[in-house]
Amino acid sequence: GKVAVLMGGNSAEREISLKSGRAVLAALLRQGVDAVAIDTANEWLSQLITHQFARVFIALHGRGGEDGVIQGLLDSIGLPYTGSGVLGAALAMDKYRTKLIWQGSGLPTPPSQLLTHKLDLNQIVEKLGLPLMVKPVLEGSSVGMSKVNRREELESAWETAAQYHCDVLVERYITGPEYTASILNDVVLPLIRLETPRDFYDFAAKYHDPHTTYICPCGLPPDQEQSLQQLAKQAFLAINASGWGRVDFICDQTGQPWLLEVNTVPGMTDHSLVPMAAKTAGITFDELVLRILATAWT
Ligand code: DAL
Ligand code: MG
Repeated sequence: GKVAVLMGGNSAEREISLKSGRAVLAALLRQGVDAVAIDTANEWLSQLITHQFARVFIALHGRGGEDGVIQGLLDSIGLPYTGSGVLGAALAMDKYRTKLIWQGSGLPTPPSQLLTHKLDLNQIVEKLGLPLMVKPVLEGSSVGMSKVNRREELESAWETAAQYHCDVLVERYITGPEYTASILNDVVLPLIRLETPRDFYDFAAKYHDPHTTYICPCGLPPDQEQSLQQLAKQAFLAINASGWGRVDFICDQTGQPWLLEVNTVPGMTDHSLVPMAAKTAGITFDELVLRILATAWT
């Protein structure tokens, strides 16, 4: 049956999603799958219903697409879709509640505090120390995120994050290499190590800076890589994510991993991380797209 690739939408990650969606659509068409792309920014629901699709490939990033909202709608109309269901998607989009579940499951994640309004910012520094990461609770691609090295910077970092969402997460900054674990069904693909000359792995490092480097295979001894892969899988399952996704974490100077977040619809451009990890595992972009499509149960 026909496949709808949902992309675009109205989130802060719209442009990234359009790139992911176009790459996914091209891969499906190359392989003879009957597919069309639908931009969920406007007038899309009638298109979805009139076409009589068999399955949906969700290529939406951020709020309104990666957060359980679309997933619930598709559940209601009985259309199978790729990746996580309502609960996993909704939890993953909420960086704070994700951390609560990890803490409750005994999984390591940096100490943090949720700010639902501007509290005493000095008190936060007393509690968590410096540097700090300040993030909107519900965004992706490092949108609205700042690293705070000095106490005086905290207020403007809070203001930047609060522009995106009233709930702001303040998290202890962990110094060390950042890694990402790509998950495809039961398999955790080879880890990627991210290195940036910037202060942290921000939006520009992710999408524009030619000096960001991606190391895959990541260079860790196999047993260490396996234990980190195992941790990533536990972190993914703990929030009820399923099908495919990506778990981001940092290892500190002692090698201790600290879980940061789960992406239930990670970037799928041909320069994105999940395709890179798949390639190292011998899985082409086209094959990856078909395997993700197969997570939409019919
Ligand atoms: N949020 C972006 C798309 C990612 O995680 O790849
Ligand atoms: Mg993300």
